[in-house]
Amino acid sequence: MYTLGINAAFHDSAACLVCDGRVLAAAEEERFTRIKHGKRPIPFSTYELPFHAIDYCLREAGISLADVDHVAYSFDPFILLGQRGGRETIALPLEPSAHPVPEGWESAWDPLFLSSIVNAPRHLSGGVPHHLEARLRGGRAGGYRWHFVEHHVAHAVSAFHVSPFSHAAVMTLDGRGERATTTYSLGDGTHLERLGQVELPHSLGLLYERVTEYLGFQHASDEYKVMALASFGQPRYRAEFREIIELAPGGRYLTHPPRLDERFGPARRRGQPLLQRHRDIARSLQEVLEETVLELARWLHGATGTEHLCVAGGVGLNCVVNARVRRDGPFREIWVQPAAGDAGTALGAALWIDAQERKTAARAFRMDHAYLGPAFPDAEIEALLRWTGLPYRRPGDLVEETADLLAQGKVVGWFQGRMEFGPRALGSRSILASPLRAEMQDRLNEIKGREEFRPVAPVVLEEEAGRWFAGAGVSPFMLFVYPVRAEVADRIPAVRHVDGTARIQTINRTQNPRYYDLIRAFAARTGVPVLINTSLNTHSEPIVCTPRDALACFFTSPLDALAIGSFLLEKSPLP
Ligand SMILES: [Fe+2]
Repeated sequence: MYTLGINAAFHDSAACLVCDGRVLAAAEEERFTRIKHGKRPIPFSTYELPFHAIDYCLREAGISLADVDHVAYSFDPFILLGQRGGRETIALPLEPSAHPVPEGWESAWDPLFLSSIVNAPRHLSGGVPHHLEARLRGGRAGGYRWHFVEHHVAHAVSAFHVSPFSHAAVMTLDGRGERATTTYSLGDGTHLERLGQVELPHSLGLLYERVTEYLGFQHASDEYKVMALASFGQPRYRAEFREIIELAPGGRYLTHPPRLDERFGPARRRGQPLLQRHRDIARSLQEVLEETVLELARWLHGATGTEHLCVAGGVGLNCVVNARVRRDGPFREIWVQPAAGDAGTALGAALWIDAQERKTAARAFRMDHAYLGPAFPDAEIEALLRWTGLPYRRPGDLVEETADLLAQGKVVGWFQGRMEFGPRALGSRSILASPLRAEMQDRLNEIKGREEFRPVAPVVLEEEAGRWFAGAGVSPFMLFVYPVRAEVADRIPAVRHVDGTARIQTINRTQNPRYYDLIRAFAARTGVPVLINTSLNTHSEPIVCTPRDALACFFTSPLDALAIGSFLLEKSPLP
């Protein structure tokens, strides 16, 4: 039984294909359209279905839309309309007057937005782009069944159903869904029992977005910049943010209107200098967020009595919060969905409907890695290289030669195997470099056009992680920070953030043999089983998807070499 999951409601539109509980493929639409987060200048098209990602998922499985049994869409407009139970159609146009809009919810209750979601089934069956029409028409008699899935159910399932735990507490922390912005559940097998929720307009995610915008960054995409900036600040506005976020009993909280201009002075405009005040605001917000999430986790632990916690929702990408909950919180183990943002809801929605329709409590898939996107065979890569006429070669041992380049201080694009699902490059579409010299951080930030305060993150062999990073266990998705051990800190200065931590990726050979072997080969040359790993893209571009994207990135940035499939390209210095 095939189930196609779709996220298209807010941003990071994505698709995922599940067959009898197994995730066959998942990808974000931005990788194909090359429009980051799927955000277009015209609001309408924000809600376009992820046609290219759907097309990819079907191709990966060798099927067409006619073979799909269920389509699971990770937003249920009927919840917002006060009618539970996702019916497939609704009369248009929507009349706001017929449905009272609660105070503070105006942004959620946009008739245009709701109409586009309600119409999604029609778009998929009739409105597909002409070049994909042949594959995407639901041609079978009866076709697939369409399901609207509550946004936070999709988030929760994306974390719980693919986690190592069959019994766990599940927390979703998000900007917003239909009504909920934070939810608590108890998961058992493939069953989720909702224990409580916080609803709009109270939202930790939306507050973080507001402050991100106030600090002169792009909301709903630059939150990680605020997180990085926080390390440079002092928490002297803690009291103000404690006023804004008010904790309440029962896992609840209120977020009061932040009135940031009034409290902290005029907002920073993009491009204006970053002042200490801005760093202090970021730090204060971050600290109060950490304390708040810690409190919520404590409540959830008390309510469930379980040792395991699963987390998803955009706030789950805040690796400093995650580390704090892991370190100071009551749960023994935490698992965070790597695509914790909205893209992951495509996966969660598909797995939810799959389990419901097959009426099974058994799991068939565990997410041990995030390599769920397209791969490109050597023949296809070489055909492209030949066509371009670029000088390339097929080394006898790509891993050894790439390790030589890295040990020489070269910056290497690494394009291998299936693309990652989620916002992090994890060794399939990565830029790799040596962490041995501090200057490498500036060089990489320059290559990628990033702010100088942003850290670069390391990948480390799983079995070596604890020797280099204090308390580090298995952390394959770059979702937790750990302190760099003092005794080795001067060996890897490029990956040590100003606060002494690093957002690590651990890797074992089962997850990605060639990547693992490369780090081992680098360690054989330098004694250091650590590389810098950052995503293969340049400023404001989505991570590369195809060999063609990789070549474009290579030639429009100061990368020294590109290891693409079994081939190696190097830039030679000008005479
Ligand atoms: Fe979400």
